[in-house]
Amino acid sequence: MSEKIISKFFDIEDSHTIDVYEKHGGYEAIRKVLKKWTPEEIIKEVSNANLRGLGGAGFPAGRKWSFIPKNSPKPKYLVINADESEPGTFKDRYVIDNYTHGLFEGIMIASYAIGANMAFIYIRGEYVRQAERLVEQIEAAYKKGYLGKQIFGSEFDLDLIVHRGAGAYICGEETALLESLEGKKGWPRMKPPFPAIEGVFRSPTIVNNVETLAYVPTIIKNGADSFANLGSERNGGLRLYSISGHVKNPGVYELPMGTPLREIIYKHAGGLQNGNGIKAVVPGGSSSPILTPDEIDVKMDFDSLAAIDSMLGSAGIIVMDESTCMVRALYVVTRFYHHESCGQCTPCREGTGWAEKVLKRILDGNGRPEDIDNLVEIADNIIGNTICPLGDAAALPIQSYVKKFREEFEYHVREGKCDVKGH
Ligand SMILES: Cc1cc2nc3c(=O)[nH]c(=O)nc-3n(C[C@H](O)[C@H](O)[C@H](O)COP(=O)(O)O)c2cc1C
Ligand code: SF4
Repeated sequence: MSEKIISKFFDIEDSHTIDVYEKHGGYEAIRKVLKKWTPEEIIKEVSNANLRGLGGAGFPAGRKWSFIPKNSPKPKYLVINADESEPGTFKDRYVIDNYTHGLFEGIMIASYAIGANMAFIYIRGEYVRQAERLVEQIEAAYKKGYLGKQIFGSEFDLDLIVHRGAGAYICGEETALLESLEGKKGWPRMKPPFPAIEGVFRSPTIVNNVETLAYVPTIIKNGADSFANLGSERNGGLRLYSISGHVKNPGVYELPMGTPLREIIYKHAGGLQNGNGIKAVVPGGSSSPILTPDEIDVKMDFDSLAAIDSMLGSAGIIVMDESTCMVRALYVVTRFYHHESCGQCTPCREGTGWAEKVLKRILDGNGRPEDIDNLVEIADNIIGNTICPLGDAAALPIQSYVKKFREEFEYHVREGKCDVKGH
């Protein structure tokens, strides 16, 4: 049985309350840093732990924090990304529900490290119960003196505010999120400047995912090496894998970075329902390039998946069995990205719409021989030509589904129907 950090709280009654959290060693790390540590020492420890950003891009957390300009006269902010809208991803919800104060402690340590006296949790609109839990537990922390002025009796002040989104996927992209937080339409900004230099209210801002911050207290408590050694090279620690689709036991599993995908599917998620075989696996949320059964021995960390031209992303694994029509699966994914495109960039706005229409035509039995190459060309023209990565997120599945399942697309076009049983 491998070690657990966050998920060991999933089975503890009232684990979201201060009392229970403290009974299990909670708030020791923040007390320690406020007494003895400099911000630079925290950043160094988090860097040495090889903690990667777990929202999708995998950017090293300590390095990101070091980008905050020290001499800027402007206030600094920490923004916690709890938008969790990538299809197939539902781990941050578990963190908020069960490890509420672990998240807060991570927020306190990160805020102290970057010199922020105010932090915002931006949470997706659909997470109503989770937003209520956060507000209720923030109030409890203020009452104890763990938030507000001079927290834990130190010289450090910290306010924590919950901001609810309105249900747009694009508001998970960090600059769209910042616009939305400022009360504007969720349109991504051109970068640079990056948020660390000019973020919310034009001030230096760090945006981190919920899960990233939730691992910070453990790093401070047990040391960088102990966390780094749990994972694989340059990919420290554990992470929460969400797994859904045709598996027997869908859910959230906390396992070392670099755990083989096959082990997650067959050992932890119980294998496939009805004894079926795997047809395809999405390894890291719907935007990650799809894998075929011969690729599932890959280690689930950022570098190993990049090496086979896919992505660990948000570690939202979706398993599809042999009964899946890949044309329909791609149509559903593409329809989502078209719907969620903010419309600022022509390649993304128009390209996702064209791809959706072409896929619908193929599904309806009216596909044309040139449609398959056109889909690939549309995707090629989106990649790298947009303001934010949603364009790439829409295009990568198109490229990979067509490349890896081309015969299925060709059959649809040629015969006007699906060759998968039951469709
Ligand atoms: C379209 C789009 C949606 C995103 N959605 C999320 C999200 O729901 N949650 C999240 O943490 N990061 C999301 N990201 C990544 C963020 O832009 C950002 O990289 C992340 O919050 C940084 O935190 P991390 O370094 O701790 O991973 C999204 C990115 C894109 C392009
Ligand atoms: S890539 Fe798409 S979602 Fe991103 S800014 Fe451009 S149009 Fe908007």
